[in-house]
Amino acid sequence: MGDARHPAGRYGTVSRFLHWSMAALILVNLPLGLLSDTLEDAGYETVGLHKSIGLTLLALALIRIGWRLMNPPPPLPASVSRRDARIAVAVHVLLYALMLALPLTGYIFSSAGKYPLTWFDLFGVPKLALTRDDAIVGLSREGHEILGWVMIAAALGHIAAALRHHLVLRDGVLRRMLG
Ligand code: HEM
Ligand code: HEM
Repeated sequence: MGDARHPAGRYGTVSRFLHWSMAALILVNLPLGLLSDTLEDAGYETVGLHKSIGLTLLALALIRIGWRLMNPPPPLPASVSRRDARIAVAVHVLLYALMLALPLTGYIFSSAGKYPLTWFDLFGVPKLALTRDDAIVGLSREGHEILGWVMIAAALGHIAAALRHHLVLRDGVLRRMLG
């Protein structure tokens, strides 16, 4: 496992696994959340799936942030401008904050709902002792929706930047994360 940490100039296997598994789950969970009313009306029980994927993402985010703190990423190639590097750091910090805030707000307001919380119907997940009258429940519901849109915007900018590095600048930045 010589590649588990970061080999010179690239992300290691652990970081790549966490990045791509979380990217896939987030890109599934955003539309699942947005379409939840439509899908439920059409008879699909997708909210439980959305919550289970979201709780999985919360656990992965905690592991990822811990791993990140112990293993700082390789420095960007010198060809990346200071301005671009600063924007990248800001967007990455925002994405990490959203990876925590979205599942946490979802967990908080779902705790006040009438449905039991499970992880893929395999085992029960304890709920917080909250009711709809608690201010944090309403705030979390509002926050979950607004932060969902913020994440869509941040992820689109992030993906556009990755493609710009690959197709326009051709500086190998996307390959650092592909392995
Ligand atoms: C990274 C993880 C998550 C993402 C990206 C995400 C994203 C979203 C988005 C974009 C919506 C649509 C918002 C709206 O239009 O109202 C939504 C709705 C919802 N989310 Fe999440 N969510 C995540 C995690 C969770 C978790 C962990 C739970 C609960 C344990 C949860 C519970 C819900 C519920 C119940 C709705 C439907 C709200 C309604 O009644 O309209 N979400 N989510
Ligand atoms: C919504 C899903 C995604 C999220 C939340 C996300 C989040 C992140 C975060 C937080 C980092 C910083 C890693 C660190 O240095 O600690 C990162 C790096 C990276 N992401 Fe994503 N990402 C997503 C999807 C994608 C997609 C679809 C692509 C490709 C098109 C991509 C390409 C990259 C690349 C190339 C890097 C490395 C940048 C560098 O070398 O500094 N990401 N991503």
